Amino acid sequence: MALLDVKDLGVSFATNDGTVNAVNGVNLTLARGETLGIVGESGSGKSQLAFAIMGLLAQNGRARGSVKFDGQEILNAPPAIINPIRANHIAMVFQDPMTSLNPYLRVSEQMAEVLVHHKGMSRREALAECVRMLDAVKIPDAKGRIRLYPHEFSGGMRQRVMIAMSLLCRPDLLIADEPTTALDVTVQAQIMQLLAELQREFGMATILITHDLGVIAGFCERVIVLYGGRVMEEASVYPLFAEPAHPYTRGLLRAIPRVDHEGGELDSIPGSPPNMTRDQQGCPFAPRCEFAGEDCAETLAPLVEYAPGRWRACNRSLEGMA
Ligand SMILES: Nc1ncnc2c1ncn2[C@@H]1O[C@H](COP(=O)(O)OP(=O)(O)O)[C@@H](O)[C@H]1O
Ligand SMILES: [Mg+2]
Repeated sequence: MALLDVKDLGVSFATNDGTVNAVNGVNLTLARGETLGIVGESGSGKSQLAFAIMGLLAQNGRARGSVKFDGQEILNAPPAIINPIRANHIAMVFQDPMTSLNPYLRVSEQMAEVLVHHKGMSRREALAECVRMLDAVKIPDAKGRIRLYPHEFSGGMRQRVMIAMSLLCRPDLLIADEPTTALDVTVQAQIMQLLAELQREFGMATILITHDLGVIAGFCERVIVLYGGRVMEEASVYPLFAEPAHPYTRGLLRAIPRVDHEGGELDSIPGSPPNMTRDQQGCPFAPRCEFAGEDCAETLAPLVEYAPGRWRACNRSLEGMA
């Protein structure tokens, strides 16, 4: 059985300007220990997809479809079902650790609280385990630094604290939403390397959400490319990079900063992301797509498995994109 099984997930928000359809009919499955990347530009629905899975949508949000965790339906499930799963089995790491860390509490207090509360440990046991976890995320002098307040850590160290905290309950699934976006390039690489090491060591299934395909390469086995809240392409990492099969994926690949390309302009995709309030008829990427024909504005291509394990939603044939 899949650890996570998401079927036809939709997320919409009621706003004064109408309904925002942030996620539209997404399917995904994740096996135990598997690593999945979700990539797309800002506004493509990545975070709302994660929030819907976690049951953490904003007040004006509604989710439909199905999210099964270990066989149990958790979408729109009552707190008695979702809370224990969130506390013990699924953890989330965000771009900005300060949104999840309490600035007024020492790291020791907020970390230990998790274990005292959810695992029934004594304070002493909890603190010892927290220090072990800070060691695991390679915070030097963990024993001393655990007494500090969050603002006394650098950005990179703070993200390490956040990661340590998310792993305290030994989750089966970790969702990391742009975990390195706020950090400079060197620290970013260090944190991604750490995450990869921890993923192997702890063996948790991981969903890595990012706008940067470059971050996906060293970390994920499989990738889902999201645009306009829809899956445009899905494949294993290597074939996706070697032979991207959707014009949008190609655009994202061209936008990856390259070390051998110093000083050169990055080709960001021309145009801007779609207006999610409008009822989508055709392909959401059509207005920005170099291969779009008239049909694309009217007909949305279904996501089709065109080769084993490789999926694309595009009206153009692969030959037509050569
Ligand atoms: N509470 C909300 N009310 C209305 N629209 C929202 C709300 N939260 C997110 N959205 C919209 O949903 C879309 C997808 O957002 P999001 O999933 O956060 O994108 P990203 O891929 O950058 O993580 C965006 O158009 C965003 O403006
Ligand atoms: Mg986001």
